[in-house]
Amino acid sequence: MKKPFSTFKAGAFALLLLASGGLKAQDKPHNVIPEPVKISTSKGQFFVKSSTTILIQQEEARTTAELLAARLNKATGWNFTVKKGPHQPNAISFSLHKNPVDELGKEGYNLEVDANGAKVTANQTGGLFYGMQSILQLLPTEIESNTAVKKDWTIPFVKITDYPRFAWRGIMFDVSRHFFTKDEVKRFIDVMARLKYNTFHWHLTDDNGWRIEIKSLPKLTEVGAWRVPRIGKFNQLDAPKDGEAATDGGFYTQEDIKEVIKYASDRNVTIVPEIDVPGHSMAAIAAYPELSCSKDPKTKVNPGSKFAEWYGNGKFKMLTDNTLNPSDEKVYEFLDKVFTEVAALFPNPYIHVGGDECYKGFWEADANCQALMQKENMKHVEELQGYFMKRVEKILKTKGKKLLGWDEILEGGIAPEATVMSWRGIEGGIEAAKLGHNVVMTPSPYVYIDFMQSDRTLEPPIYATLRLKKCYDFEPIPEGVDGKFILGGQANLWTEGIPTLAYAEYMTYPRCWALSEVYWSPKEKKNWEKFVTKMENHFDRADLAGINYARSAYDAAIKPYMKDGKLVVELEAEIPNLTIHYSIDDTVPSKFSPVYKDPIQIPEGPITLRVNTYRNGKPIGRMITLSREELVKRSK
Ligand code: ACM
Repeated sequence: MKKPFSTFKAGAFALLLLASGGLKAQDKPHNVIPEPVKISTSKGQFFVKSSTTILIQQEEARTTAELLAARLNKATGWNFTVKKGPHQPNAISFSLHKNPVDELGKEGYNLEVDANGAKVTANQTGGLFYGMQSILQLLPTEIESNTAVKKDWTIPFVKITDYPRFAWRGIMFDVSRHFFTKDEVKRFIDVMARLKYNTFHWHLTDDNGWRIEIKSLPKLTEVGAWRVPRIGKFNQLDAPKDGEAATDGGFYTQEDIKEVIKYASDRNVTIVPEIDVPGHSMAAIAAYPELSCSKDPKTKVNPGSKFAEWYGNGKFKMLTDNTLNPSDEKVYEFLDKVFTEVAALFPNPYIHVGGDECYKGFWEADANCQALMQKENMKHVEELQGYFMKRVEKILKTKGKKLLGWDEILEGGIAPEATVMSWRGIEGGIEAAKLGHNVVMTPSPYVYIDFMQSDRTLEPPIYATLRLKKCYDFEPIPEGVDGKFILGGQANLWTEGIPTLAYAEYMTYPRCWALSEVYWSPKEKKNWEKFVTKMENHFDRADLAGINYARSAYDAAIKPYMKDGKLVVELEAEIPNLTIHYSIDDTVPSKFSPVYKDPIQIPEGPITLRVNTYRNGKPIGRMITLSREELVKRSK
């Protein structure tokens, strides 16, 4: 693994510079992800010592300064405390500008490190927090250690001016398909905040569990938060049996939620709660069956058993009714109660109300829905969803909140002031922006981090793949769209196949390191090769911090196709400077096997292709093994 810059001593670094023919100050390597707007490094470094003071000029800076002190104390074994006062020699100081500096906006910061120490200045506390994160990433890798390390704690002399490209930089975490405890959610937020993400989209309700306490509707969590226990491939598990106890799940009390909101806010993260309606509501219906058209008292919280058929092209049928009844006034009374409590808890101006994958079959068969359609002069059942969402928007308005929904809310008539989360590609986002609605870009081909990261023989198979480089290459503002409507973007982590926090991290990183540069860094500052070098340093940091991540980007990509009736395979390594070795002679590939240069023609016969990637003669990816039959199947 490449030695990170920050572990070199000053002398060694100077030698490296000479050996490489001298680099311009601003070209020196660093480990800061996401890439800052402007960063220039000069010769020399500040040594953080046990005598170094951590200073704040305003009380508002204390939280950030204390987070820094806590990290330093763990890794150095020293005992830093935060003091109030102006910057002085041998200090790391945090101060807010008295007169805001326009360039920095709400979240930008300046960081200056010289012989006198490190100085972070910003307009608001979020900027101070981000300056602090950049200091941590400039410190040696061992700053991530949870036990004391003996080390020269150096920060290179640097001048940074930094601010985000987008105001909305998010990650969605689905805690319904699998429940994650309050402490796990905090940990998830802590790790994402290091990458300067500022929005945690908390997917709190779905068919598989209702996770937020609503005091006026206690059955939502007494019943809706619990399902029968099952382990294994989601959507293929056994349905609940008669009389079987629902013991698996959990929920957050309102006190838990307040605690998480405060924890997130200390890290400049705001939380957007999602209550997914009118579809994806089986857990709510299990608690209150009268909310659906079917009113089936036997409805259970789904434990990961099959209840839908998917026909491709976005077409599907629900075999169990998981949809609220748009024609029933009691449903709006229910929603009013839910949103009253949700709005009172969360300071974010938005409430996400879902709107995705709502099956209309039960509405079509329901006499009251049909009567409502006649009364409202609706021609198509889709318009019932438009009607429902407009009613929901009105409810949210009475609570002082704005409506955000998945891009299906464009169908059947969009609510007047709705913001759209474009997930089925970028098209919904383009349409919404052209209609003058704000958009958060979360297109599945680029940001669905529940997708496989590598070959389906190496990862638990699901229906799609999203490799690291594709995340990195995502551009959130589509051509021809006025960027002022694109608030920013997110990664979405659906957890059907993610039962543990460690696996959630494996799926999130490094893809969310890559996406942090998409949402924070200026487009022209993105550089894949540079990102990969920084990523490898962050692998070492994550190892020390105990954060899980995937090394799948090192695996080769296999692209079979038919040409003139012959089977041909293209191999690709997305990480620069890897060598791909392969075999088709039933040997385990090694550095002595053929090096991949041009597409390989696979002869007829009992052939198996085996492929691996190498760096400096050592395997770095995982071996992929595919039979000829499998390659032919994939070529279609
Ligand atoms: C979604 O992925 N159903 C929004």
